[in-house]
Amino acid sequence: MDVVELGTAHSDALVRFFQSLPEGDLTFIEEHVTDPDVVRSWATGSGGARRWVALDGEEVAGYVAVRPLTGWSAHVGEVRLVVSPTRRGSGLGRQLARHALVAAVGDGLAKLVVEVVAEQGAALALFTDLGFTGEALLRDQVRDREGNLRDLMVLAHHVDDTWSGMATVGLSDALGEDVS
Ligand SMILES: CC(C)(COP(=O)(O)OP(=O)(O)OC[C@H]1O[C@@H](n2cnc3c(N)ncnc32)[C@H](O)[C@@H]1OP(=O)(O)O)[C@@H](O)C(=O)NCCC(=O)NCCS
Repeated sequence: MDVVELGTAHSDALVRFFQSLPEGDLTFIEEHVTDPDVVRSWATGSGGARRWVALDGEEVAGYVAVRPLTGWSAHVGEVRLVVSPTRRGSGLGRQLARHALVAAVGDGLAKLVVEVVAEQGAALALFTDLGFTGEALLRDQVRDREGNLRDLMVLAHHVDDTWSGMATVGLSDALGEDVS
């Protein structure tokens, strides 16, 4: 599936994508992704994040973003990843996460973090395979829309540790990805 940088041409499709997610998934996403104004502002490049979508024709099947933190954490990027429930289990999440990782390393970020709600087995498996390790467990950090408390895991990827020795082969070659 084509993975392209998010642009204004995709903003309506991305609004539809988020609005079609089931309530259970929205619990695990911190931002107000069902607000069209929020999503449209991303497409104009606001906020300093890099964002990509996986396209199936005109429709968005998956979304990934890397948002650099600020101030003394400006070397850290926070990853967000969502795949359409109808497309899960076919490798799209892995493809998007790799794409974001390669781009973030290419952009010079030194560390990536991702917040995963503890029950999200697929997210845990996927990020662990890409060299992320558990760095914190925040108990009862998330309250879902039914009011239940869930633990949140912070996984981190330290670029220098993982990528030293890989630089000579080229970042894209190392993960088998072409990033634009
Ligand atoms: C996490 C998410 C992006 C994964 O997307 P996906 O397209 O299904 O991922 P993939 O198909 O690439 O699967 C990745 C791995 O997860 C594993 N996996 C899939 N479902 C699983 C499950 N229920 N339990 C444990 N592992 C699972 C598989 O082993 C797969 O590895 P494989 O390729 O070796 O078989 C998707 O479930 C999602 O959007 N979840 C809601 C949002 C979220 O939690 N995002 C992560 C934090 S930002």
